[in-house]
Amino acid sequence: MSFIQVIGVYQTFFIKNPNTLSSYIPIKALENINIEIAQNITFSIVGESGSGKTTLGNIILGSLKPSKGDVLWKGKSIFSKEVRKEYIKNVHTVSQNPFSSLNPRMNVRSIIIEPLIFRDKLTKKEIENRLLSVIEEVKLSKDILYKYPHELSGGEKQRVSIARSIISRPSIIVLDEPVSSLDVSVRAQILNLLKEIKIKHNLTYIFISHDISTTRFISDYLMILYKGITMEIGESEKIFSNPTNPYTKLLLFSVPGQEIIKEFPKVQRNEEGKCPFYSRCPIAKEICKTEPLPPKKISENHISYCHNV
Ligand SMILES: Nc1ncnc2c1ncn2[C@@H]1O[C@H](COP(=O)(O)OP(=O)(O)OP(=O)(O)O)[C@@H](O)[C@H]1O
Ligand code: SF4
Ligand SMILES: [Mg+2]
Repeated sequence: MSFIQVIGVYQTFFIKNPNTLSSYIPIKALENINIEIAQNITFSIVGESGSGKTTLGNIILGSLKPSKGDVLWKGKSIFSKEVRKEYIKNVHTVSQNPFSSLNPRMNVRSIIIEPLIFRDKLTKKEIENRLLSVIEEVKLSKDILYKYPHELSGGEKQRVSIARSIISRPSIIVLDEPVSSLDVSVRAQILNLLKEIKIKHNLTYIFISHDISTTRFISDYLMILYKGITMEIGESEKIFSNPTNPYTKLLLFSVPGQEIIKEFPKVQRNEEGKCPFYSRCPIAKEICKTEPLPPKKISENHISYCHNV
């Protein structure tokens, strides 16, 4: 049994029709998502803006119930009453933008210990000990504890977010673009820190990024999403060494200095197909217009969804 299973998940949002304002337009954010996540691995979700990464992250966090499908944790639905309370204690998040995710009116100390106040009945001494140990783990000095978010650098803010996310000792952390707002020089430090913390606490990471190259450093498994549909999924190194889906190739081609994909012809068709990538795909066939994407097994733990592989 997998640690986390995402089973046949669909998410449709309804937004007001700007023309009538009285009717609603459906936005298909996710379509038939199926994932198996083992414990203690980093599972990355990669795709362009609007591909459904945050929506899927929120569903795995349990903060959004999908329109259809389920998420199981140790075999049981995270949305069931009996599991929900326990699951919420076990999962935490670090979000994209440390500038807006930290409460500006709280000092660092209060921000970090807040999850403990809500979740656990610990003594003052126990809270203090936990605080000092997470501060040390994320390599922040004690001087920072009485500062406010606006007095911190981007890297320090993200370290505070990470300290906050691990203080209640969860087993799963959803990291939604944790380094994308940081300077390149700070990114590697934060990624290294996340790796260290994961090993120390036997954590399972769901790592969300629009940048496929960042995920290579940290992922064990990788899922490529496009317009809410899975394009390729599998062991990270298998996908990087043998990318098969045209959309994965486009993402890799867009990475400066990436030698795997040397060429990617630019295409723009004025019609949509069943394959969400049809209008941009250089090797599209007639069948891509009308038939849903078939799963093609490339090797053990590596599946590509495409009519042309
Ligand atoms: N609450 C909502 N109401 C209506 N539409 C939504 C809502 N949340 C997300 N969407 C739509 O669902 C789709 C997926 O959004 P999502 O935020 O999951 O994408 P993303 O991959 O995280 O993008 P980004 O990289 O920009 O963060 C988008 O078309 C978005 O506009
Ligand atoms: S299914 Fe067709 S259009 Fe879609 S990525 Fe594969 S070849 Fe391209
Ligand atoms: Mg997002």
